[in-house]
Amino acid sequence: MLKNPSEKYRAFPPVSLPDRQWPNRVLTKAPAWCSVDLRDGNQALAVPMNVGQKLELFQTLVRTGFKEIEVGFPSASNTEFTFNRRLIEEGRAPADVWLQVLVQAREDLIERTVESLVGAKRAIIHMYNSTSPAQRRVVFGMTKDQIVKVAVKGAKMIKDRLGRLEGTEVRLQYSPESFSATEVEFAKEITEAVMEVWQPTPERKMILNLPDTVEVAMPNVYADQVEWMCRNVKNRESLIVSMHTHNDRSTGTAATELGLLAGGDRVEGTLFGNGERTGNLDLVTVAMNLYMHGISPGLDFSDLNGIREVYERCTGMTVPPRHPYAGELVFTAFSGSHQDAIKKGLAEWSTGSQKYWDVPYLTIDPNDIGREYHEVIRVNGQSGKGGVAFLLESEFGILLPKEMQREFGPIANNEVDRLGREVSGAELKGMFWREYIERPGLWALEDFRTESGGGAVRCEARLLRNGDAVVVAGEGNGPLAALVHGFGKLGVPRFEIAHYSQHALGEGEEAAAITYIQVKDGEGRVRWGAGVDTNIEMASVRAVLSALNRLA
Ligand code: KIV
Ligand code: ZN
Repeated sequence: MLKNPSEKYRAFPPVSLPDRQWPNRVLTKAPAWCSVDLRDGNQALAVPMNVGQKLELFQTLVRTGFKEIEVGFPSASNTEFTFNRRLIEEGRAPADVWLQVLVQAREDLIERTVESLVGAKRAIIHMYNSTSPAQRRVVFGMTKDQIVKVAVKGAKMIKDRLGRLEGTEVRLQYSPESFSATEVEFAKEITEAVMEVWQPTPERKMILNLPDTVEVAMPNVYADQVEWMCRNVKNRESLIVSMHTHNDRSTGTAATELGLLAGGDRVEGTLFGNGERTGNLDLVTVAMNLYMHGISPGLDFSDLNGIREVYERCTGMTVPPRHPYAGELVFTAFSGSHQDAIKKGLAEWSTGSQKYWDVPYLTIDPNDIGREYHEVIRVNGQSGKGGVAFLLESEFGILLPKEMQREFGPIANNEVDRLGREVSGAELKGMFWREYIERPGLWALEDFRTESGGGAVRCEARLLRNGDAVVVAGEGNGPLAALVHGFGKLGVPRFEIAHYSQHALGEGEEAAAITYIQVKDGEGRVRWGAGVDTNIEMASVRAVLSALNRLA
């Protein structure tokens, strides 16, 4: 890299708009959406989609609620043309969906494009030519006037052929391609020249698409450009101002959102941001960002996993695990403090005490887009007791007492750390069982019986101590008190039961119970134990022995 990059690079000149209005506005409604997956997204694939794949993705886009879909560049190849024809001839496009097609301002291409649309119910003919200084100089070697003439000629050619689309509701769209790198005054000039030909009206608007073909500036600059156009272009009320951002500086979403504040009405982009170089705008992100502010986006991502699956199958692309909303890991917390906060937040939410979603670390309820709570927390070496407890509870109904979570959390953590990878709920349960339920030790249970009478409970426990049979007999106001008494009589160092709780594991008569017990010895040392049995009393005795074995 250069020590002094200013020798080679310069900042993009800002637009002069001292009274810009967009910073004071807020978004209150969704824009019109146009998916360009099947055109811009498709052009960016190493292996473009075949007709079958395009059809499958098209159907998914329709199901998601897109009413405007750029289906291709029909003059570019037979596949593109055939796809269009199949959509129309096989009646695959619902009547309320606009089929948008892209074409350059060239006669032969316009001919074929119009031909591809015959019989469509609704069609958008999208014409573009490039307008930035670099494109004018390097690619076309044309003056501004010549570039305007190209656009006007193309606009006329399209207008002259509209008679061939009888029965089709047609909308016209113009893109001064590379708009964001174009002088705003020139963008206005060329747009107005095209408008002069197409003569849009407030009742029959045309779409003015403002491509951020390559991001060259910060998103506020794009917003200024959009606001400048909205305020200065003549006959604004006859235009649908559309935005088409790419993501070269990783701010495509920000540019679009600020552009909406600046007056944009419509947004073009792709699912998950597939597109040339660093991609097109990710429509899912912008739509879900509106949703998380309580604004209905008018698109349905209830089954985002399913949409992602179709997208990945059709395009061969993958959605990265950290991709907003859709990534596999975005509703997953590995850090202990996050897990703890999420667990508490979800618990509060489940009580219904909060009107608005306000769960720490989760911008939306994962359930709304078909993700599940149990996906939320996974456990690795960075996790804390909260995540461990959440998985045991949500997957197995094991409700560890809070204090026991503090004991088992670090035990599980050490083990996960040793393994050096994420562990499943089942593996955590295995660790719990090995530590508390099946742990061999000083004491083992053979049999336990009780009888009551005269207000007292007497017990007889047949145990193994280091493999030798012993009988523990005692008396108390309950089975556990009797057992503790019996141990005392046997000369076992004094201990008391500091915590006792129990719940069923599963349902039905045969369901096991799990008991959690904390014992405290004469020196104040405390240990937890747990026992599982179909007999409640036996579960408790096992829990006492588990705690004593851990104390020994
Ligand atoms: O990025 C772009 O400028 C385009 C245009 C054709 C709209 O895709
Ligand atoms: Zn593009």
